[in-house]
Amino acid sequence: MSTASLEKIVRCSALLEKIVSDFYIELSRKVDKAEARAKLLYIGYDSYKHYQLLVNYAVDKQLPSIDECRESYGYFFDKLSNLNVLSMKDKISSDELRSWISSMENFENSVGEELFHKMIFTMASKLDFKGKEELILILKLLADDEEKHANLLKEILSA
Ligand SMILES: [Fe+2]
Ligand SMILES: [Fe+2]
Repeated sequence: MSTASLEKIVRCSALLEKIVSDFYIELSRKVDKAEARAKLLYIGYDSYKHYQLLVNYAVDKQLPSIDECRESYGYFFDKLSNLNVLSMKDKISSDELRSWISSMENFENSVGEELFHKMIFTMASKLDFKGKEELILILKLLADDEEKHANLLKEILSA
């Protein structure tokens, strides 16, 4: 475990939040229902905040490429590789919305962002570096947000 690997996971996590943020904002534009639109936009900008907060702890603020992150964290990035399918369509049906939201629900929970943040937390706890306390606090705040995202998605699904 080294500060170089912490740097990499923080930058890859920032990239992941940026991809997720772009996805939700794009998805919100293609949805007719006002309530779902507002909630998706909210999650989108919340994820943008996550991206900015994480990048703040990286020494190199330039986001890595997806390929660079896939090498080390393939699982997370493979799961996201089909999100850009959305950019090809103007409007999506409510069935399509449900299927997108179901797949993101898992990602918000145990198998995606939350797991990624836990990995950073574990790594950061074992290392000594400038800004450690702040990073750990930020990760706790992000975890609360991810729980909120999962709940909002659940609400959209049950509406
Ligand atoms: Fe997030
Ligand atoms: Fe999230």
